[in-house]
Amino acid sequence: MHSMKTILITGGAGFIGSHVVRLFVNKYPAYTIVNLDKLTYAGNLENLKDIEQLPNYIFEKADIVDAEAMRELFKKYHFDGVIHLAAESHVDRSILNPLEFIMTNVVGTVNLLNAAKEAWAENTDGKLFYHVSTDEVYGSLGETGFFTETTAYDPRSPYSASKASSDHFVRAYENTYGLPVVISNCSNNYGSYQFPEKLIPLFINNIKNNKPLPVYGKGDYTRDWLFVEDHAAAIDVIYHEGKHGETYNIGGFNEWQNIDLIHLLCKIMDRKLSRVEGTSAQLITYVKDRPGHDKRYAIDATKLNTELGWKPSLQFEEGLEKTVDWYLENEEWLQHVTSGEYLNYYKKQYDTV
Ligand code: NAD
Ligand code: DAU
Repeated sequence: MHSMKTILITGGAGFIGSHVVRLFVNKYPAYTIVNLDKLTYAGNLENLKDIEQLPNYIFEKADIVDAEAMRELFKKYHFDGVIHLAAESHVDRSILNPLEFIMTNVVGTVNLLNAAKEAWAENTDGKLFYHVSTDEVYGSLGETGFFTETTAYDPRSPYSASKASSDHFVRAYENTYGLPVVISNCSNNYGSYQFPEKLIPLFINNIKNNKPLPVYGKGDYTRDWLFVEDHAAAIDVIYHEGKHGETYNIGGFNEWQNIDLIHLLCKIMDRKLSRVEGTSAQLITYVKDRPGHDKRYAIDATKLNTELGWKPSLQFEEGLEKTVDWYLENEEWLQHVTSGEYLNYYKKQYDTV
């Protein structure tokens, strides 16, 4: 039986955050989970419909860039822990508007660190600030090798530079003020409730609507894909059993070149939509590359596996199939999130609607 705790989860209306909120609310009925989210274009309370009525769940709409609001929130709830996911998360948007990423990802994180430091000034027993970060802080790999927890930081996009900066502030608050912290750096996630600006849901939606599939460059970039529910499970293990002050890399040892992944996705979609095999792949369109595009990411998750016993629960093909099913079954969700602001972004990014 877990003792009573009040945990702040930031960005809980987003893709990964909603899976973390769902897991904690369902698994720990004795905890009170406060979901703080600004509800940007990427935040959607529809993601949490199945748990929003539960007695141990509370939603607070707020902006982490608002320092005073963060202080007030910590006074109101006396949090035992924070799991910080709120961020601007899309690399292409960071190239269009870096400042927004500095505000939310850097200033917002420091505001939360300050609020936690002040609220926990008397006693840090049982307290924890868990910062959720990305493998992109490590930069870009060549053909071989993996990112480990000791790989030097080398962020190369405005997004990864802002996340790297926030990681540094979290470590600085531990070193300087003794704040209990833990950080995890995860590889590319996929699964339900991901906003269709990211590769997999964007391409599922475009295939369904017979729209071009915009492959950046030659499609020969490599990413390491992890099912989002496995990321949420890793966060649970690290929150409860991780050693304070440590970093844990999270990844599925599951590398795919973009173009191979896209062909697999097209094949699954042809089958699900009863199309002749090869139909969806005809939508593949090579477009201008992402500026400064990182060649390859690959996570070595050995530490998390050997020290805390976590490992991914399913194979990529199975996870991708489940993901496709979810998007095809949740037409209404897709329609809601691809109206309004989405259309403006799409036009700006791809010069087409
Ligand atoms: P997302 O864009 O889907 O969700 C981000 C959430 O943060 C949204 O609900 C949004 O409304 C909220 N938010 C944004 N700005 C805010 C602000 N100023 N104040 C309060 N709330 C705000 O992102 P995601 O893909 O779920 O990523 C969540 C976290 O995990 C991020 O920190 C990201 O860097 C990290 N991460 C993501 C991946 C991935 O593959 N998606 C991989 C590794 C790490
Ligand atoms: O590695 C973890 C990171 O993964 C997270 O920190 C980020 O929040 C998350 O967005 C993701 O970043 P990527 O840039 O790797 O993900 P994205 O889905 O945008 O792109 C995946 C790959 O597909 C990348 O090589 C770029 C390519 N791509 C993407 C889009 C949107 C295309 O070829 N065409 C596209 O239209």
